[in-house]
This record gives sequence, C-alpha cells and structure tokens, in this order.
Amino acid sequence: METNDPSEIPPNGLTSPSQKEAPGPEHREPPPSEADPIDEILRPRSTLYKGSLEPLQEHYVPPRLLHRDEEIRRVLMVLRPALQGEIPSTLLMYGKVGTGKTAVVTQVQKELSRRVTLEHPVTFLGVNCANVDRNYALLQSLGNGLVELLPGEETIPTGWSQDRAYRTLCSLADKRGGILLIILDEIDKLAGTEALYLLAQMNRDLKRARVSMVGISNDLKFTEHLDARVRSRLSQESIIFPPYNQAQLRDILKERAKEVFQEEALDPDVLDRCAFYASQENGDARRALALLRLAAQITDRSHGQQVRAEHVVQAKNTLELDLIVECVKTLAPHCKMLLWVVISGYERRRAGVTMGEAVKSYESVCHQLGISPLVARTLADYVSELETLGLVHAEIFSGGRRGRTRLITSAVPSHETLRALEEDPLLRPLSQQRTYGQTSLFRFDGQNPGRGASPG
Ligand SMILES: Nc1ncnc2c1ncn2[C@@H]1O[C@H](COP(=O)(O)OP(=O)(O)OP(=O)(O)O)[C@@H](O)[C@H]1O
Ligand SMILES: [Mg+2]
Repeated sequence: METNDPSEIPPNGLTSPSQKEAPGPEHREPPPSEADPIDEILRPRSTLYKGSLEPLQEHYVPPRLLHRDEEIRRVLMVLRPALQGEIPSTLLMYGKVGTGKTAVVTQVQKELSRRVTLEHPVTFLGVNCANVDRNYALLQSLGNGLVELLPGEETIPTGWSQDRAYRTLCSLADKRGGILLIILDEIDKLAGTEALYLLAQMNRDLKRARVSMVGISNDLKFTEHLDARVRSRLSQESIIFPPYNQAQLRDILKERAKEVFQEEALDPDVLDRCAFYASQENGDARRALALLRLAAQITDRSHGQQVRAEHVVQAKNTLELDLIVECVKTLAPHCKMLLWVVISGYERRRAGVTMGEAVKSYESVCHQLGISPLVARTLADYVSELETLGLVHAEIFSGGRRGRTRLITSAVPSHETLRALEEDPLLRPLSQQRTYGQTSLFRFDGQNPGRGASPG
C-alpha cells in the first residue's frame, strides 16, 4: 500500500514495463493555455480521446472477451440444455475480483438469448445479491423482475410475509413458463440463506415453468456455510476463474485503448504499467481499467498531451488511498482507536511502537475520551487484523526484559488515514488534540523499542 515511484517497479522478466527515467525538462507539460480559464475547464473534449469514453467504464462489456474462451465455452455447455427446454445443472462460478465472471455471464446470456426459440422460451433473471439485504428482498426482486415481463401483473410490495412473496414468485414464474435462469451475482454477499433454500426447491412447486440457478462468488468457501441440501442443489457444476496475468491484462487494455485514445495519446509504457500493477493485485481487470481511466483523467486535468508512467503512478496512489479510507471506515471503534495511536505515534517519531507502548497510549486515549479500554488480548487480535488488512506492519522481535514483542509500524499514508479515522464522531476530539499539538496522550516509554514493552 505504499506509494511507488515510477522507477521502482522491479524487473519482471519479459512482462515488466520498461524502466524509464523521470521526464526531463524537454518532456515537461506545456503551460496551461492562456485562454479563458472557465472555457478551458469546460472544453468539450480532451485531445487525448478520439471516441466515446464508454469502453473505459466499469459497466461496459466489450463485444469480445479476451482470454476467457474456455470459461465461456464451459458456461455455455452447462446452460445449453435450456435452449431445448431442459433444466440445466445449477452452476457456481468462482474467482477473485475483476476476473471477468460477471462479464462472461453477460456475454453468455447474450449468446443464448439470440438463439432462444418460441418453442423453448428461456428467461434470464439476474440479481446482484450485494443489493438485496434480506431473504425477502431477493424473492421480491426476482418476482418483480418477472412482473416487468408480464403486462398487467402487480408488483410484489415490501411487507408481505416471505411465504406469500415466494408463492407469488412461483405463480409469476408459471405464468411466464419455459426455463427460468436465475443468476445470483455476488451470492456470497446474501444476508441469510433461507431464500436460497426456497429457490433450490422451487421446481417442486412449479407447474409450467422450470428454474435453474447460476451463482457467482469471490469466496471459494462460500458453500461451506450452507445447509447440505442447498449446497448439493446449488453446485452441481462449478467453474473457477483464474486471475489474469500481466500479458492478458495488457491485451484487455489494448483492445479498449484502441477505441478510446488518439494514436499518440499513450506513452508505449502506459498499458504495461497499468497491467503490471493490476497483475500484482489479484490480476484484476477492473483495477487495470480504473488505473488507465484515472491516469488519463490526471493527464487531462494537468493539460498533458500524453498519458505517461508518472500519471499511472499517481492514479495508483489515488486508488490505493481511496481503498485505505474505505477500509478504515469499516473498522470496529476500538480498532480505530488503536490504529490512530499507532499512526500518530509513527508520524511523530518516524519509528514503530511496541505492543506495550501501543496499549498504554490506547488506554490513555480511552481515558481522555471517557471510554472503558478493552483488554490487551483483544488489542493484540486487532493488531493482527490491521496487519492482515495491510494497514500496519507488525514485526515480532526478541529483546528487552520481557522477551518477544511486536513492533508496529504504519503501512499507510499518515495524514489521510488519520483524517479518515477522525471522521468517526468517537475519535473526532483527537483531531483537535493533534491540531493543537497536545502530546500528553503519548507516553511512549522511550526510543528503544524493546524497553518497557509487554509481550505482544
Ligand atoms: N476478458 C475480458 N476482456 C475484456 N474486458 C474484461 C475481461 N474480463 C473483465 N473485463 C472487464 O473488467 C471489469 C471487471 O470484470 P467483471 O465485472 O466481469 O469481474 P468480476 O469477476 O465479476 O469481478 P467481481 O468479483 O468483483 O464482481 C469489467 O469492466 C469487464 O468488462
Ligand atoms: Mg462481478
């Protein structure tokens, strides 16, 4: 999560972007135009782009998905019985973020829809489970998806019993008839599994229609939490999407860039660099596209004529910071306090704090805020959590009277992270203390990290 200089990228065999010198004076961006500054801000189109920016947007699914032929073939094989009026096996698709699961399903849906005949109707009902917070909402959303296709039917309102919503869904499905393919994207985000249970046994309650399901998940272990009956019904087939490698990501970016950018708008190094960073982060195509999009915006805002490596680095840092801020906001209140103590200590001393020092400072903060502190054991668990999230480094070292302890250092930009933490009303008073330089909160035992530490 640390900031990177463009020249810091390690060589990575054939796929590493070429290491370039920082641009010399001859490459300097031209000075801002002398034109009316408002006209300049509102100018209709940057010189970087030649066409619509749509292909760089996240929701855009290109006509051709590169490096996913095998996955598309396998999903088609599983679902093709629907075209003959047969019930396809249920399918679970797994893969890390940005590995093309949603894009593949969208593509497959298009291909199948084009081949559906009147004799064997097929209806696709898609729901992103991250947007439905309850079992009821899932049934309601599927039912209302059918209502949109059935003129004259009433929508399922909020507030019915779950049973009534389910029975209405069945009756709507029977009115529609044929095969219904229910696509549950981000199925692991579903709150509660009762609705899945109902959907898994729905064919028993249907008269004219038949359903099958496609579940999409980031979490390979997601089915472990399910009732054995639901698990076996839901995962008759499964496909795992591997992460994209750097070369594949570069191909994906190149295809999009051709549509969007003028010939000379991208330095030859730019696509490789975006692909390199994204391949380091789970091979995420969404990330690669976001880097390219943001790097181009940064270039455009600074009136640059060409997107270059340093713009990609700036884009990377901005995206990382956004992630850190989002991540920090989800922490438990006491975990935030502990992180605040570590980072503000690190900011002042430019050195780590031992577990013992962190606990003492945390207790001091609790005292100032009028909150009862948690026990050291829980705080040690919080440190492990913060380390897993990449917000701190916690290095175990031996030394001092009490043996082994952990030296905790910040792994994130201090200023922005402290600001994000202090947005929590609980921690807000700490921002004033920091601003006015009241340092009494920090009673670190000394510069030697071994001294006074309790075992971490
Ligand atoms: N093979 C590909 N070719 C072109 N674009 C792709 C490809 N794979 C993914 N993309 C693009 O990358 C972005 C992320 O892909 P997608 O949403 O399908 O990922 P996902 O696996 O569903 O991720 P998540 O698990 O986070 O939902 C989308 O904009 C998609 O169009
Ligand atoms: Mg997806």
